[in-house]
Amino acid sequence: MIDIHTHILPGVDDGAQCWEDTLDLARAAVLEGITTMIATPHHANGAYINRADEVVEHARHINERLVTEGVPLTIATGQEIRVHDDLLDAWSRKELLSLADSHYVLIELPSSRIPKDMDELLHELNIMRVKPIIAHPERNAEIVKHPERLAELIERGAWAQVTTHSLLGGFGRRIEKAAWSLCRSGLIHIVSSDAHHVERRGFRLRQAYDVIRERMGEPWENYFLNNAQCVIEDKPFSSKPESTYSEGVLRRFLSYFPHN
Ligand SMILES: [Fe+2]
Repeated sequence: MIDIHTHILPGVDDGAQCWEDTLDLARAAVLEGITTMIATPHHANGAYINRADEVVEHARHINERLVTEGVPLTIATGQEIRVHDDLLDAWSRKELLSLADSHYVLIELPSSRIPKDMDELLHELNIMRVKPIIAHPERNAEIVKHPERLAELIERGAWAQVTTHSLLGGFGRRIEKAAWSLCRSGLIHIVSSDAHHVERRGFRLRQAYDVIRERMGEPWENYFLNNAQCVIEDKPFSSKPESTYSEGVLRRFLSYFPHN
């Protein structure tokens, strides 16, 4: 399995704090069947910067240590980039990283709302052939209230990643419900862990895929598994399986929240 959103690099953000934390996470990942993960330290979220060159150098060093320890895990590079005014300029200055050198980037919205110039940002990224994946939209208050707004962002060229802990109830019932609704509405393209710490917030990726298979069927499990592979291989995502909601139910679900 491939995990495209993790905080495994030590001492750079609120994820792993030291090499032992990183090693614990890496060993737990291998036990779950994860072979490749993308390190996505926070960028420009108000607390952390983690410039591209620093992340690349750090990941190179950690990969070497994992080889020495005999842990069969490859760490590719990325960032979890907070949407901010300087994003496009930071991209031009080469301070940002795509996911595993692909055309995909992982972007994070503020937790309360969708920034007002989001459409413009998506338009610019589109022109630059950069494919933004929105991290955990199920944890954005505006999207939970108005899921059709995520559908609009997707129509404008965004993709979306749900977090395993949201699906498995780790952030409470409301976020769990939102996560499953978005998945069943076909508004989610990728599942990943956003792992921070082996005990407090580990991977649970295998468990999440198992529950997806039980609730939504094997084609959806395969769709999500395959899309994670597509990020690493820099390929377009595969086409969606039939929605587990009928078209009528889906339309009613999306139209339940009036536009304003
Ligand atoms: Fe994250």
